[in-house]
Amino acid sequence: MAGARSLVKANHTNVGSLILMALVFGSCVANGEYLSDRRGLVAVAGNPTVFDITKFGAVGNGATNSFKAFLNAWLQVCASPVPATLLVPKGEFLTGPVIFAGPCKSKVTIEVQGTITATPSGYATPEWFLFEHVDNVLLTGPGTFHGKGEAVWKADGCGKKVDCNLPPTSLKFRNILNLEIAGISSVNAKAFHMFLVKTTNVNIHNINIIAPAESPNTDGIHLSNAVNVNIVQSTIGTGDDCISVGRGSTNVTVEHVTCGPGHGLSVGSLGKYPHEEDVSGIHFKSCTMKGTDNGLRIKSWGGSSPSKAVDIKFEDITMESVKNPIIIDQNYGSRGGDSKVAISDVLFKNVRGTTITKDEVQIMCSKSVPCTGVSVIDVNLNFVGDKGGHPSASGGLIGALCTNANVIFGGKLSFPMCPK
Ligand SMILES: *[C@@H]1O[C@H](CO)[C@@H](O)[C@H](O)[C@H]1NC(C)=O
Repeated sequence: MAGARSLVKANHTNVGSLILMALVFGSCVANGEYLSDRRGLVAVAGNPTVFDITKFGAVGNGATNSFKAFLNAWLQVCASPVPATLLVPKGEFLTGPVIFAGPCKSKVTIEVQGTITATPSGYATPEWFLFEHVDNVLLTGPGTFHGKGEAVWKADGCGKKVDCNLPPTSLKFRNILNLEIAGISSVNAKAFHMFLVKTTNVNIHNINIIAPAESPNTDGIHLSNAVNVNIVQSTIGTGDDCISVGRGSTNVTVEHVTCGPGHGLSVGSLGKYPHEEDVSGIHFKSCTMKGTDNGLRIKSWGGSSPSKAVDIKFEDITMESVKNPIIIDQNYGSRGGDSKVAISDVLFKNVRGTTITKDEVQIMCSKSVPCTGVSVIDVNLNFVGDKGGHPSASGGLIGALCTNANVIFGGKLSFPMCPK
């Protein structure tokens, strides 16, 4: 097939041979249905299921707005009765918001070889790329989504405010079944880099997320009602949570992820909105945290409505100069009252490295619904100085802090446990 492909490329101006080759390909693409459809001729010569945006008018000069080309290529990809690919070749392609809406007829691949850059403004909805109601999606690299967030971060005054319109997320996935994201980079999102909502069976691997430590609300990957998610072998450095697992998410595994800079690996924030769905089965394994503000964190808002967060494990984590390495904070956010998010079955195990915080373990649970079944086992963190933090009067390690929680400590610990 590869040999035939280059042959067709060489003859791409010769329509006669193209059609001939299309006949040959008929046997390769399952049923040859495209032959009755002239669409096949618009695709990349030699592979009628690859739709190159430059064939739809996109120009990779970093200046021409290629929005229409993305949309028109997508319409072809999504309508293809056989698996099809939207190809962004090498070059720099500028575009404003793009919606990849389904349902589609077959599996779709978005292959980005070049760089896609975001326009500074013109976003009617809070996302740059939105994939919606599409099943069986593969987003693959080695290209880059550059959100150009550096132009808008200063104007983003959201912080922890409840009602605030964040700038657009770079890549949002909503109502997707079977999603794979591999090999891409996301740089300087205007707000979140990736936001998965109501998405089931997700495999994210070998991705790279990059934004400066001081960029506001640039969460790496945020999950909301995401089910059966694997995030592995990836590097995330950003100005907010590297990964945040929000409401209704279940069966999420994060493994071999390097986080930093950023606000750490988080479950939450939970309880921000009324009637949130429960969170369960969230496992972070074999991750490395580098210079993050917060390491492993569960956070819920005060004054929330009731929900549960159950079976959360953080295991085999390496830390370098991390602030607040282990923390449950149920008074996150500025709203008054107790959190009603009931946290149970939480394990922090085999956490090693260095910290810049003297309260190495902070378990601060809700008075209304105290945490149950929180275990801290084998935590060995060396204090390496405050680096501009708040030195304690004692000058030494404070150790663990437990509020409204009966924490079980075990194994080797490098700090004093909470008094019983
Ligand atoms: C959890 O998710 C993984 C994929 O990440 C899947 O293989 C597994 O079957 C799921 N487990 C359950 C109980 O659904």
